Amino acid sequence: MASRVPVARVFSLTRPVLQSGRRAPSLWVATSQWQQHRCSSHAPSPVPVLNKGQKPVTIQTLHKMRADRVPISMLTAHNYPSALIAQEAGMDMILVGDSLAMVSLGMPDTSEVTLDEMIIHARAVSRAVNRSFTVGDLPMGSYEIGPEQALASAIRMVKEGRMQSVKLEGGAEMAPTIKKITTAGIPLCAHIGLTPQRQHALGGFRVQGNTLDKALTLLKDAKAVEEAGAFAVVLECVPSDIAEEVTNSLKIPTIGIGAGNKTSGQVLVQIDMLGTRPPTSFMPKFVKQYGSEWESSLAAIKQYKEDVTSRAYPGSDHVYKSDAKVTEAFRAAIRSAGVS
Ligand code: KIV
Repeated sequence: MASRVPVARVFSLTRPVLQSGRRAPSLWVATSQWQQHRCSSHAPSPVPVLNKGQKPVTIQTLHKMRADRVPISMLTAHNYPSALIAQEAGMDMILVGDSLAMVSLGMPDTSEVTLDEMIIHARAVSRAVNRSFTVGDLPMGSYEIGPEQALASAIRMVKEGRMQSVKLEGGAEMAPTIKKITTAGIPLCAHIGLTPQRQHALGGFRVQGNTLDKALTLLKDAKAVEEAGAFAVVLECVPSDIAEEVTNSLKIPTIGIGAGNKTSGQVLVQIDMLGTRPPTSFMPKFVKQYGSEWESSLAAIKQYKEDVTSRAYPGSDHVYKSDAKVTEAFRAAIRSAGVS
């Protein structure tokens, strides 16, 4: 029987050697905890480890990357496995974005998701991440009433959601709120340009900053959030040249989404870039699809269905074998009891 091992002891600085003789990928850790649960369909997930020499990403790391012109990579994660894989792939930042509402919870827009719901997902992501810098989105309704409300929500996102920083949408008009949160010691990433929480006010998902007046307002917003203490700013759906000028005018990193490749970094929604959604889903122009998860998952699940129907699954590799004598005795017992 596997012995009980305290959770702290399963953290390891070296990667375990697998049966094949190869080193396990960095996040996989063989634990006796794992062995205890190996007969259950709910086996615990592997605990992420930092490999020797790997350091967690901090705001200072991100600011140095901007200064050195090293592009910053950011990806959304909405649950534990998507966060594990994002970190394993080397993402500098992981965002629990309120895109969660639409792409993971099936809501019609982001206004429906609540702070309580965001916190549940943030907590799950935080359990998977120990290297990437985490950002938790404040959903619509959790910060617009005033700086006090916003600070209370930001504190919950850090305390309960276990995020290292928060994000909110808005420019110059949010400066007092940003100041309130950042002076309380909570790092904040701003989000300007297309702000999906205000989609109805903006008349839908449209390119922003595409006239002189709008570009100047965008720059004013970027400067205001920087001045208020934001450590980075997301620029969404902005023409590439305008985003480049805004980036060059700031001392904090800009993270672009639909803003060209001259920003300090890029962010995408994981479910979009992996092609996890049905092919008929609307996909913005700026999304590059790096995977076709819908197709591969559909094929796999169809195969499972076929195997269940034909009894090809479970095969001999997937079953527990009983002692032949036990089976024989069991059958005899059933017969003598007249059960069958
Ligand atoms: O909610 C989200 O995922 C976002 C990113 C698209 C920046 O805000």
